Amino acid sequence: VTVYVPRDAAALSVGADRVAAAIEAEAAARHRPVRLVRNGSRGLLWLEPLVEVATPAGRVAYGPVGPEAVPALFEAGFLDGGAHPLGHGPTEEILYLKHQERLTFARCGVIDPLSVEDYQAHGGFAGLSRALGMSAAEIVAEVTASGLRGRGGAGFPTGIKWGTVLAATAEEKFVCCNADEGDSGAFADRMIIEGDPFLLIEGMTIAALAVGARQGYVYLRSEYPHAAATLAEAIRLAYRQDWLGEDIHGSGRAFHLDLRVGAGSYVCGEETAMLESLEGKRGTVRAKPPLPAISGLFGRPTVINNVLTLTSVPVVLARGAAYYRDFGAGRSHGTQPFQLAGNIRQGGLVELAFGVSFHDLVYRFGGGTASGRPLRAIQVGGPLGAYLPADGLDLAADYETVAAAGAMLGHGGIVVFDDTVRMERMARFAMRFCADESCGKCTPCRIGSQRGLELLDRIAAGQGGDADFALLEDLCEVMSEASLCAMGGLAPLPVRSALRHFPEDFGRERPA
Ligand code: NAI
Ligand code: SF4
Repeated sequence: VTVYVPRDAAALSVGADRVAAAIEAEAAARHRPVRLVRNGSRGLLWLEPLVEVATPAGRVAYGPVGPEAVPALFEAGFLDGGAHPLGHGPTEEILYLKHQERLTFARCGVIDPLSVEDYQAHGGFAGLSRALGMSAAEIVAEVTASGLRGRGGAGFPTGIKWGTVLAATAEEKFVCCNADEGDSGAFADRMIIEGDPFLLIEGMTIAALAVGARQGYVYLRSEYPHAAATLAEAIRLAYRQDWLGEDIHGSGRAFHLDLRVGAGSYVCGEETAMLESLEGKRGTVRAKPPLPAISGLFGRPTVINNVLTLTSVPVVLARGAAYYRDFGAGRSHGTQPFQLAGNIRQGGLVELAFGVSFHDLVYRFGGGTASGRPLRAIQVGGPLGAYLPADGLDLAADYETVAAAGAMLGHGGIVVFDDTVRMERMARFAMRFCADESCGKCTPCRIGSQRGLELLDRIAAGQGGDADFALLEDLCEVMSEASLCAMGGLAPLPVRSALRHFPEDFGRERPA
């Protein structure tokens, strides 16, 4: 009998290793041989550790399973899919999962992340195999036609970016994956690297073929040790199977991939600071232009894409641009892995076509607040994203609609707050975060965040007068218009949205 216990960091943090050990011990004691597979997470985080058993009728789920529940599960015949209070029936029928549209995360939690055979048996390397028979320009055209846009947050068309790198003449080009997932409430990059690492390798190799690069780097944040270990092992296995190296699968084309781990700086998620860090320097932001696509790593044309962008590429090649383009709304094509976090009952990963409403995500999937208290606000797109009030959740989650509402989709992280949240504190947190993480290169951010912090402290202490609010608004304008990068440029977003939607928390009257 095959039993699946996730090796994902979220599952490990709630004791998955102890559960795996308990299952092995109990099986040995009962002389019931089990094959234990340490899969990735299905993304139903409130059910972790989620244990699955392969039965003739498909996989059956139990969770959250603690080590102490294991003997009773055996007693209930869980190896044959037997009923137990922790049972959820067939995994694929759990509504949270069943109602998703999983393209990027289709294999995550299903396969053994480090089994090349498993990966290929579930459609892996189909995109790369097709790309190996195409010219660079054809691959770029296919990705452009799919409508895929940068999932790091800016939503820039991936095909256009690749086209710029392809058109640049240089002796050497690079592909860099930005896996410095620093946003609070974001965990999709980590989950896919831990649950389906060959997908990222495949996406990066396709990108390399598309632009003529022979070397790539994954820049991973140091806070993700499990992802680092899994990816390092996957890279080693990919070399062994000739999916990386001098002669990719007998094609005569080469791509080499290395993993680099950051040192804990949020701003290194900004693409030019990431390049500095990759070059071994302090992670400060470079002025653009030149764009990295023209002059990036070591001054060479460089593709820089987020993990979710690169892991969306294989399905585009495998299923075709038209298939991918069909998902979504307006100019936002394909799917977005949304991440539900904070004060939410059913936190986890929900991959759906763009256009689903935040209301659906938070209530239909998330089940409302974990505390059971009324929801007051959500923050979308990380610590520098806007706050949306409870009555503003009927908004379609696509790049344009969200931007028109004065917010940003960012990396798709959604953090939920109940009615005990104090928004003046959240506004202060944004400025504090910016002050702490500022790289110091430009004045609006370096000095502005300090002054903003002082102003918000005065306001929070009930000493803020009209002049302070006017000054804060002025400061926000300067920071958003004149900062060199998105760090200082976006910090006013949570502040302004908190002031706009929750003026009473700042001692202000709601406009009539
Ligand atoms: P940007 O709009 O300056 O650039 C987007 C991307 O397109 C960059 O890679 C840029 O080099 C490229 N690009 C622009 N014009 C191009 C052209 N003509 N040819 C080729 N490439 C071109 O945005 P930026 O500063 O890179 O990112 C800002 C975004 O980052 C924000 O919208 C925010 O959502 C997101 N963000 C994401 C975080 C995360 O943890 N994922 C954290 C903080 C912010
Ligand atoms: Fe550095 Fe902040 Fe300026 Fe960005 S906005 S370059 S993080 S000082």
